[in-house]
Amino acid sequence: MFVLLLIILEGGWSEGCLDHERFALLRLQHFFNDPYNYLPNRVDDEGATDCCQWERVECSNTTGRLIALDLFGTYWREYSWYLNASLFTPFQQLESLDLHGNNIAGFVENEGLERLSNLKRLDLSYNLFNNSILSSVARLSSLALLYLSGNRLEGSIDVKEFDSLSNLEELDMSYNEIDNFEVPQGYRGLRKLKSLHLSGVGIRDGSKLLQSMGSFPSLNTLHLSFTSFTKTVTTTRELHSFTNLEYLRLDDSSLHISLLQSIASIFPSLKNLSMLGGKVNGLLRGQGFPHFKSLEYLNMDFTRIALNTNFLQIISESMPSLKYLSLSDS
Ligand SMILES: *[C@@H]1O[C@H](CO)[C@@H](O)[C@H](O)[C@H]1NC(C)=O
Ligand SMILES: *[C@@H]1O[C@H](CO)[C@@H](O)[C@H](O)[C@H]1NC(C)=O
Ligand SMILES: *[C@@H]1O[C@H](CO)[C@@H](O)[C@H](O)[C@H]1NC(C)=O
Ligand SMILES: *[C@@H]1O[C@H](CO)[C@@H](O)[C@H](O)[C@H]1NC(C)=O
Repeated sequence: MFVLLLIILEGGWSEGCLDHERFALLRLQHFFNDPYNYLPNRVDDEGATDCCQWERVECSNTTGRLIALDLFGTYWREYSWYLNASLFTPFQQLESLDLHGNNIAGFVENEGLERLSNLKRLDLSYNLFNNSILSSVARLSSLALLYLSGNRLEGSIDVKEFDSLSNLEELDMSYNEIDNFEVPQGYRGLRKLKSLHLSGVGIRDGSKLLQSMGSFPSLNTLHLSFTSFTKTVTTTRELHSFTNLEYLRLDDSSLHISLLQSIASIFPSLKNLSMLGGKVNGLLRGQGFPHFKSLEYLNMDFTRIALNTNFLQIISESMPSLKYLSLSDS
């Protein structure tokens, strides 16, 4: 019986995609409504039954099995719904799953999600997931890229929720109602995290947030755009400095000059800073601008900042490595 099944599966593969994976895809299409037939849309007319030829599907060249599935914006109804994660269990080699923009409020049958033990990239952006999604995704220990922007996450997020995701390299929780990202002192998780996106969230204490970034030894890129850091930095205690962050985006964010000062001392290796459309509050004092040792690229287009007339001189003194500066409409 088992041998026979194997022969059937082998047969299915020689024609392109595995039959049971194609059936599973058609079942998914039914659940997703998909009025425009996005899912079975083919690269060319040849691959009608070969789901590996469908635009939104990618199969492995070696095993013929489905490794990537893109369901971006497939669900066109207005009301929210619960997706049965067991619908994905036939795809045992799935590495990338994109569910961006489908009005999903949650998963029923969470175990279905857990069984995707090869999943490396999961995009759940722009759905209606609340904080309970965190404990579900936390069981996907192979995940490297996790996108949760534009959902209904709220309140304080404890980084310990992600403890089991030891392979995580990129985490996006932008545009949620998060007001705190709690990283306990001496935290030893997320050692591989390279890129963190917390744009458009309600975190007000920028200094605390930036200090906590020191717990992530691989962090290279931080996105904090569309944020209003209202708390000024008053503490004079020694700031720890972290040497891996190179890229910081503060587009359309507002912050006090003292926070910019902290950024310069906390991240001495910062190379690329974008403050496009942002606002810097407070006055530049005597010593001038914060000293950015390694900064090579600075975008301050449309940035509102009280500039001294000798600003360019200040810049050249405080940013000795600068190669590119843009100041249109500042
Ligand atoms: C698989 O095949 C596609 C198309 O022929 C090719 O672009 C891709 O590089 C191949 N991937 C691997 C891992 O060989
Ligand atoms: C989810 O799908 C699985 C497999 O098709 C099925 O056994 C299960 O009953 C479904 N769960 C719910 C809550 O519909
Ligand atoms: C969060 O979503 C889950 C479903 O995933 C639901 O059961 C729960 O009631 C929701 N919680 C709140 C506070 O809305
Ligand atoms: C800095 O980042 C911007 C995008 O925000 C990019 O266009 C630019 O090339 C980068 N510059 C350097 C030196 O990395």
